[in-house]
This record gives sequence, structure tokens and C-alpha cells, in this order.
Amino acid sequence: MLNKKIGVIVGSLRKESYNRKIAKLLMTLVPADFQIEEIAIGDLPIYNQDFDDENNVPLSWVTFRERVKNFDAILFVTPEYNRSVPAVLKNALDVASRPYGKNVWDGKPGAIVSVSPGGLSAFGANHHLRQSLVFLNIPTLQQPEAYIGNVATLFDDSGTFNSERTRQFLQKFMDAFVAWIEINSSKKS
Ligand SMILES: Cc1cc2nc3c(=O)[nH]c(=O)nc-3n(C[C@H](O)[C@H](O)[C@H](O)COP(=O)(O)O)c2cc1C
Repeated sequence: MLNKKIGVIVGSLRKESYNRKIAKLLMTLVPADFQIEEIAIGDLPIYNQDFDDENNVPLSWVTFRERVKNFDAILFVTPEYNRSVPAVLKNALDVASRPYGKNVWDGKPGAIVSVSPGGLSAFGANHHLRQSLVFLNIPTLQQPEAYIGNVATLFDDSGTFNSERTRQFLQKFMDAFVAWIEINSSKKS
């Protein structure tokens, strides 16, 4: 039994966020011995190094850093804003990467799902995010890649997810992520 904890970071604060809907679906696709829950990022003040340097750290940063530290792996589910990562997600990455030398993302296996109502499936955000994760030392699942485009078509009029084909793909994706967590956790121990 692995019994690992996966934290889910959603790059949208919108009430009706498609990304969060997909994230909620992904959370149902892990083995029973895994815990998986969202880590909220909406209340983090924009990163300002003075707060760290002057020992005037916002409580929400302290809580967030501690919370990230307690997860074994991180799943990112993100929209694309202007062909890149939404500021709220980049801010969360920055906050938990500092102060210098105390990057709490370090070594945690990660995976990315990008989601868009458009046809390009937030490819730009997916790959800009990968660039930051290299530096943060989050070993990130490479295959399968998960680009969910035309997401509105995956829900029926009552808001219920209605694509068995996509659900099966997402199950494969999560199975690969679980295996990835196992490989990378055993490397660390
Ligand atoms: C500031 C802004 C920039 C956007 N830029 C893009 C973009 O570059 N590519 C894209 O596919 N969608 C873009 N969109 C549309 C989002 O994909 C859409 O709002 C989507 O629903 C956001 O995800 P959510 O439903 O999880 O909130 C943008 C939306 C906003 C608000």
C-alpha cells in the first residue's frame, strides 16, 4: 500500500471553473489508498521578497508553505491566460519556492492537466508551467500529456460530465501519475 497524499492546485478562481470540474473528476480516479485534495491558492498576497527579508511573512504564505510540504505529490490543473500560466498559479509557485533555499516543491513528483474551452487545449500554459517546474525540481510526468480542449462539450446541459472517452483517458493519465509517484518516491528513499 502506497498511502500517498496528492495535492491538487487549480489555476482558476472562477466559481464555475471548468478546470476545477475536471480536477474534481481527477480526484475520483486515484486508488483507495491515496489521499487527494485541493490546495487553495486564492488568498496568497502577490509575492514580494521584502516580506521574507524583513521577517514580515503573511500568515497565508506560512500556512500554504506548510501545507505544500505535507503532500507527497502535486497535480496541477490549469487554464491558459494569454498563452501562459494564470498569474494566481505562478504566484503560488513563487510563494512556496521561497525564501531562497526553502523551496517546498523540491523533489515532489508532479503532473499537469491543461484545460480550455478552446481548441488549442491550453498547450501554452501546460508548457510554460513545465518550464517553472524544471527549476523548482518537480519531476513532472511526461507521458501521457493531458491537453483537454473544447471542455464545454464534455458537460451536458445539467453540468454533468458526459464523455466516457475522456474519462477513460483521464483514468489512464492518473494511473500513469500514480506509477510516476511510486518511481520517484522510491528514488528519494
Ligand atoms: C485573461 C484571460 C486570458 C485568456 N487567455 C486564453 C488563452 O490564451 N488561451 C485559451 O485557450 N483561453 C484563454 N482564456 C479563456 C479561458 O480558457 C477560459 O476563460 C476558461 O474558462 C478558463 O478556465 P476556467 O473555466 O477553469 O476558469 C483567457 C481568459 C482570460 C480571463
